Parts: sequence; structure tokens; C-alpha cells
Amino acid sequence: MSEILVTGGTGALGRHIVDRLREQGHKVRVLSRRAGAGTHTGDLSTGAGVAEAVAGVDAVVHAASDFRKFGGPDLTQTEQLLRASGGVAHLLYVSIVGIEKFPFRYYRNKLACERMVVNSGVPHTILRATQFHELIASALRSVERLPVAPLPTDFRFQPVATPDVARRIAELVASEPLGRASDFGGPEVLTLAELAQTWRAARQRPRRVVRIPLPGRIARAYRAGENTCPDHTDGVLTWAEYVASNPANAYTITGTPPPP
Ligand SMILES: NC(=O)c1ccc[n+]([C@@H]2O[C@H](COP(=O)([O-])OP(=O)(O)OC[C@H]3O[C@@H](n4cnc5c(N)ncnc54)[C@H](OP(=O)(O)O)[C@@H]3O)[C@@H](O)[C@H]2O)c1
Repeated sequence: MSEILVTGGTGALGRHIVDRLREQGHKVRVLSRRAGAGTHTGDLSTGAGVAEAVAGVDAVVHAASDFRKFGGPDLTQTEQLLRASGGVAHLLYVSIVGIEKFPFRYYRNKLACERMVVNSGVPHTILRATQFHELIASALRSVERLPVAPLPTDFRFQPVATPDVARRIAELVASEPLGRASDFGGPEVLTLAELAQTWRAARQRPRRVVRIPLPGRIARAYRAGENTCPDHTDGVLTWAEYVASNPANAYTITGTPPPP
């Protein structure tokens, strides 16, 4: 059993990583900016408390991210963490499937963070996952009260359950560093029209959906499903099962984490 630090351990994904690691008998540290929310208080942007949180751990899972300014703060955060992690045996970075295909600033910053991890000399694994159920739910929730919800219904997604991704991360970080792990996707690739239909059947909202035809490379990449990995339908929980579980409104598309 090891001692493992989870950055972002208070977030939508991170809280499940912490649970899985503890179930496996590991000693887990959680870094949070909010005193009392984790085991260690610190801020990856300033570096405060980071060296103390990392000192003496065997491995680090880096699942923290700041979606503000399109993830710009992630660059400094990842740099601060890597600087403190010289002595760790394994660092796992959580990334997103297909990011090099989307000229989208948050994804460009994720790609730059991946490169920093690769060039750091720290033994590492990068795991890319598809969009979380929570993210799709957050997007649909944001339009469900409109009389007519305008959606790019031909975009494709392969939503995955955060507990499923967390299970994979807990296995990987307790094993040898892989460099780049196989992509991790949800059980099915669905269009936004299909995802919205399931949502409407369960919640009777939004009442009407209209397709908005979006131009540009990002829209083309979503239509082509570049954000999916149909050869890796690893996740177990389907979108329909997630929606039927009536998830609480505990996540916003801006990435504001829910209270601990
Ligand atoms: N959302 C998706 O669909 C998706 C899909 C694939 C991969 N991912 C990746 O998965 C990872 C986790 O995403 P998520 O949706 O679970 O995130 P989230 O719920 O928005 O949580 C963000 C976490 O980052 C921490 N954090 C932010 N700024 C920090 C700072 N300056 N110092 C220390 N901690 C900081 C927050 O901790 P405190 O607020 O407690 O400080 C919080 O725990 C991200 O790398 C994301 O890119 C997301």
C-alpha cells in the first residue's frame, strides 16, 4: 500500500478517485484551496502548501483543473506540481480524449500540460477520458427551462461515469508508469439529439429542441466524434442509467466545484 496525493480530490472526478484509493487501502492526501475540504490546504497557482502536500508520498494523481480563462491557470498549476514531484515514483495526469483535434483554448492548454508532464522526467501516466456524464448534464440543465432549446444536435459524445474513470485511475496509479495509457471512454457513442431525448424523457424538459447548425473547425470535430474513442467503450454506467439516477445539480459547466 502506498501514500498517494490527489490534486482536485474535492472535484467531480477527484472525490471518486479518493474513495477508490481508500477502498484499496492506500493512505490518501487531498490538496484543496479550501481549509478543511481536503487533508492538505494549498494552492497550485501560487505553490503555497504544495511541497508539504507532496513530501513523502509515493504517487500523485493530478486531477485539479481551473476552467476559468480557458484553463490558462492549469499551466502554472501543473508546473508547480511537477517542480515539487521530483522524488515521486509515479504521477498520473488526467486529460481528455482527442484534444489535439480541437482548436479550443482549454484543450490547447491541456495539451501543453501533457507535454510538460512528458518532459518533466517524473515517471508518469497520462490517462485521457471522454466527457463526463456531469458535463453533458450541466449543458442540458442550462437550457432545459428555455421555451425552445437550441442545441447542436449532431455533435457526438461518449459520456462516461466519473466513478468508472476513477476506478481505472486507481488501478493505473498503483501500477508501473505507462507514459500514455489507452483512452478511456463511456459505454456508447451518442448524438446530442439522443442524449437530449433521454434527458427529456426523464425530466420533461426542455419542451422543444431545435438544431443549431454551428460552423467552424470545433463544430466539425464534434460532429465527426473526434472527442470519442469507440474502440474503448470501457465505462459501465450508461447515460440513461445516469439520468435515471436523477443526479443532483452538483456541478456546473464552468467547473465550479461542489462543496465538499
Ligand atoms: N469534465 C469532463 O467532462 C472531463 C472529461 C475528461 C477529463 N476531464 C479532466 O478531469 C479533471 C477533473 O475534472 P473535474 O470535472 O472533476 O474538475 P472539477 O470538478 O471542476 O474540480 C476541479 C478541482 O481542481 C481543484 N483546483 C482548481 N484550482 C486549484 C488550485 N489553484 N489549487 C489546488 N486545487 C485546485 C479544485 O479544488 P478546490 O476547489 O477544493 O481547491 C477541484 O477539486 C480535469 O483535469 C479535467 O480536464 C474532465
